[in-house]
Amino acid sequence: MAVERTLTIIKPDATAAGHVGEIITDIEKAGFRILSIHKLHLTQVQAEAFYQVHRERPFFKDLVKFMTEGDVVPIALEQEGAISKLREIMGVTDSKKAAPGTIRNKFGTNIERNAIHGSDSPETAAFEVAFFFNQSELNRVS
Ligand code: RTP
Ligand code: MG
Repeated sequence: MAVERTLTIIKPDATAAGHVGEIITDIEKAGFRILSIHKLHLTQVQAEAFYQVHRERPFFKDLVKFMTEGDVVPIALEQEGAISKLREIMGVTDSKKAAPGTIRNKFGTNIERNAIHGSDSPETAAFEVAFFFNQSELNRVS
């Protein structure tokens, strides 16, 4: 399997609750390498741009409000098969239905407040990593 890059965001619910460290531990234990990491507060314009693929969905407005309510922690990650592997350890969108042991099961609340984002395809991963990190931040020697 090819080495891939993907983007996760620890969302405002999990960041405010102090779960950043535990979530990063789960991610590292699953074999991911952290390429780069930020903590920031998304503006409305940034959140709308990031989730532009969902702009016609009924939950779009609430999603943007949620993602701008507090700080988030975007992390660029690398591993073999990173995109599907991250989705696996996150669990399904609705935290109430996420399998035991997944990040959304452990740290999320419901279908919206679900603790973590993960890129869902090679195309979105490339767009989303570049959304938060420039090339020099992704250059690594180890
Ligand atoms: P994400 O993009 O954040 O990794 O989540 P996902 O692929 O599992 O789910 P997606 O369908 O892409 O939805 C993006 C985010 O929108 C919120 N959402 N709210 N109220 C609702 O019905 C609803 N549905 C989705 C969630 O925060 C979801 O992660
Ligand atoms: Mg998605």
